[in-house]
Formats: sequence, structure tokens, C-alpha cells
Amino acid sequence: MAVHEIAPDIFAIGALDFDRRLFDGLIPLPQGTSYNSYLVRGKEKTALIDTVDPSRELDLVTNLVKSRVEKVDYIVVNHAEQDHSGSLPMMAELFPTARILVSEKCLDLVVHLLDIDPARCTVVSEQESIDLGGKTLQFFMAPWVHWPETMLTFAVEDGVLFSCDLFGTHMAESTLTARDKVQVYHSAKRYFAEIMMPFRKNISEHMEKIKDLPLKTIAPSHGPVYSPPDLILDAYRDWISDRVSDEVVIPYVSMHGSTEKMVNHLVEALIARGIRATPYNLPVTDIGELAMSLVDAATVVIGTPTLLFGPHPQAVYATYLFNLLKPKTRFVAIIGSYGWGGKTVETLQGMMTRVHPEVLDPVYIKGAPGTGDLKLIESLADTIEKKHREIGIHS
Ligand code: FEO
Repeated sequence: MAVHEIAPDIFAIGALDFDRRLFDGLIPLPQGTSYNSYLVRGKEKTALIDTVDPSRELDLVTNLVKSRVEKVDYIVVNHAEQDHSGSLPMMAELFPTARILVSEKCLDLVVHLLDIDPARCTVVSEQESIDLGGKTLQFFMAPWVHWPETMLTFAVEDGVLFSCDLFGTHMAESTLTARDKVQVYHSAKRYFAEIMMPFRKNISEHMEKIKDLPLKTIAPSHGPVYSPPDLILDAYRDWISDRVSDEVVIPYVSMHGSTEKMVNHLVEALIARGIRATPYNLPVTDIGELAMSLVDAATVVIGTPTLLFGPHPQAVYATYLFNLLKPKTRFVAIIGSYGWGGKTVETLQGMMTRVHPEVLDPVYIKGAPGTGDLKLIESLADTIEKKHREIGIHS
């Protein structure tokens, strides 16, 4: 990545990763990602805010050389995950007198994950600040976005919030600014769904904490910088709210076509009632797209056949993710077909331990769906319509 000045004497010096296609062995990255690292130059001291993934360490070093940085006084570690801290050992070696600033929980993680000497570290506390000479950095603890140790760093005089993962986007954007707002909104929502959605309550508290700061710029550690920050702040206010949309998401898998027939019938019945319905055929679904659809939808219907004694493994995976991502879904139902028995419905419902939607009656039938079975699907559509009307999202 080229060096970008995002505010007077504040530079983005991180790395773009156009080719990365998977994160955590789980999250698809159709647009690659970036590891944003920032340099803040005061009159007397210089601070490096976060580093980059070790695979892009050379890019960071190159940008430091290009920026003619001879000394770094502070290395701020907002978050210990390796895509931001993985180059910390090299930075610590390159700048042997730099103090490494961490939250209390982060200290333990950089020692255990990165073998950092604790004697090099200084623990900062809530709202503590350091003076770089005409530039002040202030720290705000922001645990659980998505690790327990994360903090935010605020450049007071310039109104720049270095938010690390929070407000990030997995997107390699060479201009570093949000040019195509529709595309950025879409990518930011996908990122929120995959990483931040389980922590809506924590994010709400953090946003409350920063709401009176004179924010001019949000500079996350993935994707575009927001200046002004309204686009991403407004989007987050919506996503973390309890508002749901008049929409049904239907992750499903079918083996011989019976479950698929039921899903298709449900989709048609819901559309006929004016409710948005989106089926996701799990074996060919991008789970990022599925996660994104869970951000707003009022209802989730899981479709699965019984495989031997229980749900199809693809449905187990989707239900596990649903439970893990903890969306604000209000209603859930299970549909599908079985051959001779099994405990499919009980198994899937038993997996929903972290989410508490109202569970609607399942439509679970033997064999291929006949006319009477499809009538049951239409009754489920009626129930969903009634429920959506009761909570005021369907007229
Ligand atoms: Fe981008 Fe939690 O690391």
C-alpha cells in the first residue's frame, strides 16, 4: 500500500492483501483485505498504531523506510490478533527503545502469542493519554469486538479514532477512502455479520462511550478510512439496534428434492404474502452472504432432510453458525422430510442455546411432500405473516 496522509502528520502505512481469500480458515474474503497500520508524528515523539499480518511485514517496513522513520517511541497494540500484531516482534526489534502500549488483557496475549518481553510493555488504562508533542493519544477500552483485550486509540487534536477491527471491512481498497459508498456499505455489513454481530450489546456500549468525541475520521485496521465517519456510524447504529425487517432467510439442504420442494413452496407462499424470502442452498452458499442476510431478517427457516438419524451435516453447520453469530432473529422454524424416523427437529432446536427466537411449529413430513404437506407449508407462511404483523413490520 502506498503511504497515505489521513490527517496532518498522521499516515496510513499498512499493507493491502488483494489475494487473501479466507480468514480464520472460515470467513470467505471475496475482496481480499488490508492490514492498516498508522504512524502518528508529534513534534517530539512518534507512535506506531498496530502493525500488519506477518505475511505483509515487508510492506510495513518499506513504508517506514519511505516515511524516513528513524525512531518510534510508542507501539500501540489495540488488538493482539496476529493480523494486526503479528509484525510486533519485528517492530520491537527494529525500534528497541519503543514502549509497547497495551491494555491489561492484551499484555497477557502479546506475551503468550508473540513472545513479547513484558518489560517492554506499558499497560494503559481507560481514558489515559500520552503526549507526542502537539498530538495526544487517548485510550478507550473496548472489550469484545471480538476479542476481550481490544482498545480504541483516539488522536485528540485531529479527531481520528483508530478503531482496529471495529468498523472494519475486509476489502483491499487502494485509495483507502470509501469511494463507492454502496459497495463499501455492502462489504462493511458482511464484515459486521461475520465478526461483530455476536457483540451487538458490547458495541452499543462502546459507541455510547465515544459518542461525544469530536470524531472527524474513523481509521479501522481493515478496509477504508471514513472521513467524515457518518456512513459507518449510521450503519452500525442500525445493525446493532433491535429493528428487524419483513424478511425470511431459508438456509437449506436437500438430498433427493423433497426438502427443496418444500423450500420452494414456502418461498412462493411468502412472496405471495408480500414478505421477502431468500433461500440459501447450503452446499453452494457463500456463508458470508448468509451471515449478512441474518443481520436484519425477522425469521429464519432451516430446511433439512434427515440423514440416517438426524439433521444433514450442512444444516448442523448452518445452525451452529446461526447460534454462534447470535443475530436478532425473532422467529425460527424447521422444515424438511424424513424416510423412517430420527431426531432432526429436536437436534437442531437443541443447538440454539445462545439465541432465543420464538420457535414456530415445524413442518416435518415423511417422504416426498404431497398436496396436504404443501398446505402445511402455506400454513407456516400464514403464521409467519401473522407474527410479522404482530411485531409491526408487515402491513
Ligand atoms: Fe483483524 Fe481480530 O483481527
